[in-house]
Amino acid sequence: MDKLVIHGPTKLKGEVTISGAKNAAVAILPATLLINGICRIENLPNISDVKMSCKILEALGAKITWITENEIEIDTRDICCTQAPLEMTSKFRASYYLLGSLIGRCGIAEVGLPGGCNLGARPIDQHIKALEALGAKVDVAQGKITAKAKKLVGTSIYMDIVSVGATINAILAAVLADGTTTIDNAAKEPHIVDVANFLNTMGADIRGAGTDVIKINGVKELRGGTSYSVVPDQIEAGTFMLAAVASKGNILIKNCIPEHLDCITAKILEIGGNVENYDDSIRVSMNKRPSKAIVKTLPYPGFPTDLQPQIGSVLAIAEGTSTIHESIWESRFQYTFELNKMGAKITAQGKSAVLEGVKLLTGAPVYATDLRAGAALLIAGIIANGETQLYNIEHIDRGYENIEEKFRNLGANIQRVTEPDEN
Ligand code: UD1
Repeated sequence: MDKLVIHGPTKLKGEVTISGAKNAAVAILPATLLINGICRIENLPNISDVKMSCKILEALGAKITWITENEIEIDTRDICCTQAPLEMTSKFRASYYLLGSLIGRCGIAEVGLPGGCNLGARPIDQHIKALEALGAKVDVAQGKITAKAKKLVGTSIYMDIVSVGATINAILAAVLADGTTTIDNAAKEPHIVDVANFLNTMGADIRGAGTDVIKINGVKELRGGTSYSVVPDQIEAGTFMLAAVASKGNILIKNCIPEHLDCITAKILEIGGNVENYDDSIRVSMNKRPSKAIVKTLPYPGFPTDLQPQIGSVLAIAEGTSTIHESIWESRFQYTFELNKMGAKITAQGKSAVLEGVKLLTGAPVYATDLRAGAALLIAGIIANGETQLYNIEHIDRGYENIEEKFRNLGANIQRVTEPDEN
């Protein structure tokens, strides 16, 4: 098993280039199943979740050619299987997108119940509700979901909860359905807009993505024949913005969309940092201890839950006592127990955490409990005094491309070490 060994403290300085968005890529890849043709996808992040998505598509009959490590050509003319391999789909959350795309393409989908980060209960009732509204019969049994429909027919879907995954799944299932589908109370995250843009580029007719009402006029076929570049990763960019603040550094974050990061910028300004926005880059610098803040996670354009642990590392060393309220996931404070091993003073209970800021963290052995927790602990290791050993980094590799290299280029002292398995 690999671990990261970090020696701090380091003030991060320099430039970093943001990769394509993980959460857009893991939706766009299954969306290719709706295309009866060939397309190219550029700016794909080179991460393990993308590699796993590609393996699943290949098992379903897609032919994938890697042009570079960030670009593929995918031929989905001969989809021959509607059963996604259970051992693969159960490993990550975004496998639920295979439901919408397989039923849209083939009228039948069999997918293992999705795995992914352990952030608490992760129900999929809104996904099922959307598929049923479109005319599918959905069964959950023996660890898998089966959806079948002779014909999907456009309809009105009201989401009881703002859900990224259910919104995208409803879009996927509706693209080739007969007639018009309207999704009300849709999620508005940048990657929803990106998936809609991708599908429209391939011939779909989706309007309103990025607002809370999305209309999909069903089309007969998606032909492909063109290329699409994945949107820059909002969460990766936000991670580096917060790393600049935590380390009292100065980072130019290139290839990002500043507008997607407005609420992170606002919070950084509030706690005393400096942010300069350019067309497709952001410079973040900090020259003092951050001040305390109150953070509440919300669906986009609110403060993203996927940056909550990273701002937790910032507020752990802030002047004064901060509070974080997590309103999306019930178990997203596991990282605080690890930060406390490094000298932080955080009390987490239920959906809230109180962070009594300390002057300095100290290196310790810590465990990444999930993807973004891993990013938070990496930032903590960089700003802590002494050596931090960060374990379970396979979580980080799921969603961040070349993470230690990117941080090393900013001056961090990080080594990846492979330890022999105990067994
Ligand atoms: C996506 C992101 C994840 C991010 C989350 C919230 C991907 C692959 N993952 O996850 O990184 O943390 O959005 O921004 O894009 N819910 C239900 N029923 C459902 C679906 C969701 O009750 O059918 C609840 C969830 O428990 C959660 C909330 O709705 O409390 C939001 O979840 P959702 O937006 O669906 O998250 P994901 O799409 O799984």
